[in-house]
Amino acid sequence: MRVEGRETKIAADLLAHYNVHARRLPWRAPPGANATDPYRVWLSEVMLQQTTVAAVGPYYAKFTARWPTVEALAAAKDADLMAAWAGLGYYARARNLLACARAVARDHGGRFPDTEEGLRALPGVGAYTAAAVAAIAFGRRAVVVDANVERVVARLFTIATPLPAARPEIREAADRITPDARAGDFAQAMMDLGATICTARNPACGICPLRQDCAAVQTADPAAYPVKAAKKVKPHRLGHGWWIERDGHVWLVRRPDKGLLGGMRALPSSDWSAAPDSTPPLAARWTMIDPPVAHVFTHFSLALTVHHAHVVQDATPPGEGEWWPVAQIGDAGLPTLFARAAEAVRKDQDARD
Ligand code: ADE
Repeated sequence: MRVEGRETKIAADLLAHYNVHARRLPWRAPPGANATDPYRVWLSEVMLQQTTVAAVGPYYAKFTARWPTVEALAAAKDADLMAAWAGLGYYARARNLLACARAVARDHGGRFPDTEEGLRALPGVGAYTAAAVAAIAFGRRAVVVDANVERVVARLFTIATPLPAARPEIREAADRITPDARAGDFAQAMMDLGATICTARNPACGICPLRQDCAAVQTADPAAYPVKAAKKVKPHRLGHGWWIERDGHVWLVRRPDKGLLGGMRALPSSDWSAAPDSTPPLAARWTMIDPPVAHVFTHFSLALTVHHAHVVQDATPPGEGEWWPVAQIGDAGLPTLFARAAEAVRKDQDARD
């Protein structure tokens, strides 16, 4: 529920600033405009989860050129979509994207539901995405809270409860300041403020349009909000990856649909653990690359030791896979970890020639 006073002043101050300073982004309508294509809003919001605006830009352009409508995306082959997503990370998003596009095409005649509740019922659409699409594409009043908004709200109201326990309190405060009109602009204005002025470190309070409305700016250290619970250190895991080359081709496998990098093309690899199995998938003269390829996932960091070997014509590794032309490895849609492993092999081979 909204209360008059300070809360309405926050929205008014922020929207006035947004009218002039909104970032021009490819998926965005200009401030005050009504219509935006729900497909494009949804696609951009899924891509922007956990990923920066700069990283999303080229992917958004590529996807909308190749799949201009939700029906076109629904008709995409799984493998093509996964390969096009390669490098963006958090691959469950890509699998959910396809499931959602197919549900919209099949069950809703290609039109996205226009309420938060209707959107929430689609596969892979969580509270954040449903609120963002309802507000931005359909102009509905919805409370949109991502990490940027969390930071801005925690500072406006000096919320001292540490994250993640503070989430309900932050949401309630965000609800109080969300206006009835222009909820989509308001949400995006909050995101812009968090990305450009109310940044995690060194916020630019001197130029902030909400300076007069903000409790944190009155404190010695506005950047101390939101308060965070002490971070757990990420576990470190080890693994082995195998580059098996035969006549200008490398053996690629597909990772199981469930689990990390699910459904993506990959090099054959061991388990990733404290003491991984280092048995190669087949006997060959293996060269080990030192140092390993380091990669940080959400819940652990990995050091992947990459081994490469050439094998003779009739050698075939065990299990399912495909021989992929080495010269076209850039088109295989390898996730970043394996793309970097491939690069390490190329460098090591060059150095040995
Ligand atoms: N991050 C997530 N959604 C966004 C949007 N619509 N504009 C800018 N940054 C965002």
